[in-house]
Amino acid sequence: MSKEIKTIAVLTSGGDAPGMNAAIRAVVRTAIYRGLKVKGIKKGYNGLLNEDIIDMEPRHVSDIIQRGGTVLGTARCLEFKKPEYQERGAEICRQHGIDGIVVIGGDGSYRGAQALARLGINTVGIPGTIDLDIACTEYTIGFDTAVNTAMEAIDKVKDTSSSHERCSIIEVMGRHAGYIALWCGIANGAEDILLPEKYEYNEQEIINHIIASRKRGKIHHLIINAEGIGHSTSMARRIEAATGLETRATILGYMQRGGSPTARDRYYASVMGAYAVDIMLEGKSNRVVGYRNGKIRDFDIEEALMMQKGIDEYQYEVAKMLTI
Ligand code: ADP
Ligand code: F6P
Repeated sequence: MSKEIKTIAVLTSGGDAPGMNAAIRAVVRTAIYRGLKVKGIKKGYNGLLNEDIIDMEPRHVSDIIQRGGTVLGTARCLEFKKPEYQERGAEICRQHGIDGIVVIGGDGSYRGAQALARLGINTVGIPGTIDLDIACTEYTIGFDTAVNTAMEAIDKVKDTSSSHERCSIIEVMGRHAGYIALWCGIANGAEDILLPEKYEYNEQEIINHIIASRKRGKIHHLIINAEGIGHSTSMARRIEAATGLETRATILGYMQRGGSPTARDRYYASVMGAYAVDIMLEGKSNRVVGYRNGKIRDFDIEEALMMQKGIDEYQYEVAKMLTI
């Protein structure tokens, strides 16, 4: 039988994502609505180890649902991978009367949550990352905003690229995952999409494609390159030399991680935040919230971390077919 939950805490960890604030708000208000006390832990697991912990009231999360970033701050805390720091974290939770923590972040953050759960602190993870790379869920908080931000920026680059009849390489975020690149590739009508999961580093194939597209009357050639492949500027130089076509690289960078969250990000962040608190109140721990087949569900963190997710072959083929 799990212990009674009286006080919970919430933290954001890893890369920030638009919609994290909506999730924090939902956790705080649901918990208070259900009669719990809530604390906010600043700057991820760093804040836990530094006891940077504040009491949260409903008004502390007023007027944040529309704001990008995270009001709690986020950080990468490498020490937290070590057992002695995890034990210290669990001890600090006990000293502050924290029975459970809702961790908003990605896979790495869930490993920290898993460690705390083993040490007796109830934990529930919420998927917060623009990368959409958490296997147990079809949706991660921040992806929708990031991909729309990138799409709008790419539209603008495409305008000037067409006017000048240039080739453009646009680098989008995704160090290990190509979902932003794939979605932009389809949504922006890119001629080539380079995904970490798929790209075989065959630049000659891209060059041949550019030349063939030109012959078919295309006046621009848009290449969406995921950050995980990178080297967009040197790639542009090589492509220009090989094709004779003016080629420019644009790296969108961190603008994709900021900005006001879309309705979809606010909506799912709110529902997932509330759900995380409610399953914790049911006595669940070491769980991660996900969205699958139209439903919000929860998974054992261990199982969630073992799940694999890859680029959908058909969607990748669609991106290619539509470039003719
Ligand atoms: P994300 O949560 O977005 O995947 P990271 O992989 O950077 O981001 O992880 C965020 C933080 O989670 C790390 O800085 C660290 O504090 C914690 N973390 C990551 N891996 C582990 C691990 N194996 N054990 C404990 N904590 C971890
Ligand atoms: O938030 C996800 C992400 O943008 C990845 O695409 C990228 O690999 C990483 O964060 C970079 O974040 P940082 O530079 O903050 O480590």
